[in-house]
Amino acid sequence: AAIGKGNYRHFMEKELHEHPAVIGDTLRQYIDPATRAVARPALPFDPATLPRLWLSGCGSAFLVCNTARYWFETLARLPTDCDVASELRYRDPPLTEGGAAMFVSQSGETADNLAAMKMLRGGGQSLVSVVNVPESTMSRESDATLMTVAGPEISVASTKAFTAQLSVMACLALNFARSRGAIDAAEEARLTAALLEVPEHAAKLLDASAEIEAVAAEIRDARDVLFLGRGSLFPIAMEGALKLKEISYIHAEGYAAGEMKHGPIALIDAAVPVISLCPSGPLFEKTASNLQEAAARGGRIIAFTDEEGAPALRRFASRVVVVPKVDPFVAPILHAIPVQLLAYHVAVLKGTDVDQPRNLAKAVTVE
Ligand code: G6P
Repeated sequence: AAIGKGNYRHFMEKELHEHPAVIGDTLRQYIDPATRAVARPALPFDPATLPRLWLSGCGSAFLVCNTARYWFETLARLPTDCDVASELRYRDPPLTEGGAAMFVSQSGETADNLAAMKMLRGGGQSLVSVVNVPESTMSRESDATLMTVAGPEISVASTKAFTAQLSVMACLALNFARSRGAIDAAEEARLTAALLEVPEHAAKLLDASAEIEAVAAEIRDARDVLFLGRGSLFPIAMEGALKLKEISYIHAEGYAAGEMKHGPIALIDAAVPVISLCPSGPLFEKTASNLQEAAARGGRIIAFTDEEGAPALRRFASRVVVVPKVDPFVAPILHAIPVQLLAYHVAVLKGTDVDQPRNLAKAVTVE
């Protein structure tokens, strides 16, 4: 049966509202309800002894890989490399014997992924794909397939598949961390509980999207927008910039907050909104001080934070959007939602073809 938009104006809006359900369905696929721990998925390698992991994909899926790298390294103490598939396929990197690669893709058909997979296969790496389409080519070309449970995604710009992919990767990071003896049972239980609470927080965020619409009205006429984040929020800053470019055609860049002083700070004036992902946590003070530097140069700071981070940011930010406070481990999943919503509302205000942005395709099956 054809999929409809229901009461939504666009598929993208409908799919944004599916975030809570999709994250919940995906987590339920990987977390055993009885033990409340991630069940070991069938994999072609043993995470306990895996020497090195490659992560790759294209577009938003690549940004999922970037986020997952922080998790695999920090939580699971697993050496991880990450690259876009279009570079990886020609890079000819030295490969570690017994290594593995995971490819993330909504469609499972992206040509650059298939070529990079072939290259890594030739180098003796085992292959896992994380896809949303079970009978896809990538799935057939892999030793194991891990499914996202996002359902069909129609909007060209990926939304719900993105948080579903993050959910799978977060589960894997926890599972690998346990296999590698990198976290104890209490920490694992705490982080798993934090993951299981994400759908509920995501639903709250979607209910309070009026504030995001106000931010959208504020940035709709900007020519350039800068998105800043640190740690696992850096890839989410890049996702915010990517989405804004894709559907509203505003030039945007996602930058590591600490790298701003090496370039983007030259652009800052009142005409360039600086959108920052700055929840409380170990990196809060560092990011906040980068934002203060931008504010001191006349920058208009729009900060996404939580109730703990809000008071400090209100001193210099022109707008502070409060999202639910969660463990820093799951913050990237939650923060992906407001930046995607923001891009959506800007595109609606600008009257672009939200679901079918110019020059873009849902699945890129040619090089
Ligand atoms: C296209 C889509 C993006 C998507 C990317 C990767 O560029 O417009 O939304 O992130 O392809 O697609 P995949 O199907 O491999 O996730």
